Amino acid sequence: MADLRIELNRLKLKNPILVASGTFGYAKEAVAFCDYTQLGGIIPKTVTLVPRAGNPPPRTVETSCGMLNSIGLDNDGLETFLEKHLDYLLGLGTSIIANVAGHSAEEFVTLTQRLNDFPALAGVELNISCPNVAGGVDFATKPELTEKIIRSVREVCHLPIIAKLTPNVTSIVEIAQAAAEGGADAVTLTNTLLGMAINWRKRKPILGNIVGGLSGPAIKPVVLRMVYQVAQKVKVPIIGVGGIQSLDDVMEFIVAGASAVQIGTANFYNPTLASSLPAKLAEVVEQEGCSSIRELVGSLKLPNQTPPAACAPACNAR
Ligand code: SIN
Repeated sequence: MADLRIELNRLKLKNPILVASGTFGYAKEAVAFCDYTQLGGIIPKTVTLVPRAGNPPPRTVETSCGMLNSIGLDNDGLETFLEKHLDYLLGLGTSIIANVAGHSAEEFVTLTQRLNDFPALAGVELNISCPNVAGGVDFATKPELTEKIIRSVREVCHLPIIAKLTPNVTSIVEIAQAAAEGGADAVTLTNTLLGMAINWRKRKPILGNIVGGLSGPAIKPVVLRMVYQVAQKVKVPIIGVGGIQSLDDVMEFIVAGASAVQIGTANFYNPTLASSLPAKLAEVVEQEGCSSIRELVGSLKLPNQTPPAACAPACNAR
């Protein structure tokens, strides 16, 4: 049987298939469809220090090959999460990675300090990239802010730290580098791409928050490109997320340089998918003549080391 274990610095997973925050609730909803023990881990919905009601409805809209959401981090707050959901999650036979969002570096520190009380957690994912709340996406659009938040958390929190980054930037490499310098054990690439939907007959935006975050297969090529670029330039393990809906999608991310992946939007229309993937992944590792998935991470072969498309015109002009 192929070895699917993955280590992302201090974060250790039994296999690289995770479910993405915000697409799996607190795991109770999918119990009839998903064998949680098969998963490499579950990342529950983002929690904040105090409860949030979220944005006005409508909060989701289907798009071509994707969906837009403008939830606005609707949640009951950290203490309710710890009291009501964490015990259940920790009993599911898979790794649980909490996901938190704060308004400032100080708030991220407070949130993650409290999580130290729960060493059974496998790690914490810092949501520094939510496009639907004031200030949310701003953290991960600035390298200095990204580094500051991660460094501050690293100083107080004993858990492995994952920084969830935004694709709404010019240079994802710069931001990932800042996350690595701040001490992130891994980066999640990426959160959603800013988008909009319009009902032109009514001359109105469809989402209550006017704009929202695009996810699903529509964004896969964009995120795959970012995973590739970061893997080429930054020494930090990558967790890829963006439109993955098949084993081939998983393998594309792994070959591009992701050590693990998250299944997100697909959970809404195929809740059995995520737990079916590890067994299929083991088969494909063997078919490729490997004994471990780790041999396939970043195994992309570049024709003549062609420069990344984004810099090709300038480089070719030299
Ligand atoms: C939300 O709650 O608005 C979505 C979470 C996110 O995109 O970070």
